[in-house]
Amino acid sequence: MLQGKNVLLGVSGGIAAYKMANVASMLMKLHADVHVVMTRNAAKFITPETFEVLTKNKVYLDTFDEQPDDAVHVPHISLGTGADVILIAPATADIIGKIAGGIADDMLSTVVLPARCPILICPSMNVYMLENPIVQDNISKLKRFGYEIVEPAEGYLACGYEGKGKLPEESYLVERILHAVAREKDMAGKKVVVSAGPTQESLDPVRFITNHSSGKMGYALAEAAALRGAKVTLVSGPTALKTPYGVERVDVLSAEDMYREVTGAAADADIVVMAAAVADYTPRTVADRKIKKNDGDLSIPLARTKDILKTLGEKKRPGQFICGFSMETENLLQNSAEKLRKKNADMICANSLTQEGAGYQVDTNILTLITKDGNEQLPLMSKLDAAHAIFDKILAL
Ligand code: CTP
Repeated sequence: MLQGKNVLLGVSGGIAAYKMANVASMLMKLHADVHVVMTRNAAKFITPETFEVLTKNKVYLDTFDEQPDDAVHVPHISLGTGADVILIAPATADIIGKIAGGIADDMLSTVVLPARCPILICPSMNVYMLENPIVQDNISKLKRFGYEIVEPAEGYLACGYEGKGKLPEESYLVERILHAVAREKDMAGKKVVVSAGPTQESLDPVRFITNHSSGKMGYALAEAAALRGAKVTLVSGPTALKTPYGVERVDVLSAEDMYREVTGAAADADIVVMAAAVADYTPRTVADRKIKKNDGDLSIPLARTKDILKTLGEKKRPGQFICGFSMETENLLQNSAEKLRKKNADMICANSLTQEGAGYQVDTNILTLITKDGNEQLPLMSKLDAAHAIFDKILAL
């Protein structure tokens, strides 16, 4: 996801500096070209050699570290101007103060001055240092000048205090970098609604009817749209998944809840993708006490739920794009084309439960994109790649 991207990590002297080795390693796995600039104090918590081994690039601490052959590139300028994104984490009160004051007295404070790329700053320090009005004023000033502040997490701090000031999870820092540079913002200004996961239809206070959906395809769609700059609302049934950065998530349980939230959010949406596995039937009545067993069999009367996709198709505004999913065990293309027509959708993404690598729970999918103009068969790919392919098609249409 970061192939061809130059990521500059600025590490200043907080105890969490050691965690940045993991961030560097995660970025390398995403094929980024990673450069690290550290302060002298950061090098007391983690050695430059650690980052050099991980990134295969020279680590700079001081402008006077520049070598004779660096003269052509002048690292204190080229490291900043060559970066596609800069993340300063942990950012101490000292480096925040220096950047806010325009001071450039070491390599890290110097490289940010000529940079033209997004600069993310992650304040990381003792809770009372963070609350200090001068530090807060410096942070506000950085925000005003277009620096992106990555809010510190709350919890137990190395100094023994509890509160705000922790470096967030490494995976979250990588997510913020991805959000800043991984994709062109070709969906900026678009409102996208995605539904995901299963629904739960209650029988009594202890039991419900549901299905095997993990929500992975819907969450990948929400992540892809957010990476491309869209404003995303994710209406989600119960899943074990993390909300992707930049996505507004609305939690629902039943098909009726999902109907209400999706149709409400869809009213002003440009694109709606129904990836949720919505129950087609719900128990006709919900017992208010636990249903006790008897000797014989039990039948539960079920009532039809509202078809959300069909409702969206009926209410479709001009210019709005409605996309559904179809999961079949037989006659996949024929049944899916029929759903496209009956539900007045603009596209149906069909996946067969019988193909290996497609369907519930797995991280990959094999989709056929069905529109009124014909079918496009996608190969086996990750659900995130499949999500991008779906939006490529929607944007093209
Ligand atoms: N869907 C919906 N509301 C429902 C049921 C399904 O919006 N109450 C949506 C799903 O999110 C999906 C599409 O309809 O985008 C197809 O769902 P699927 O269950 O595969 O097809 P059905 O039309 O329900 O037909 P069948 O169950 O007979 O296969």
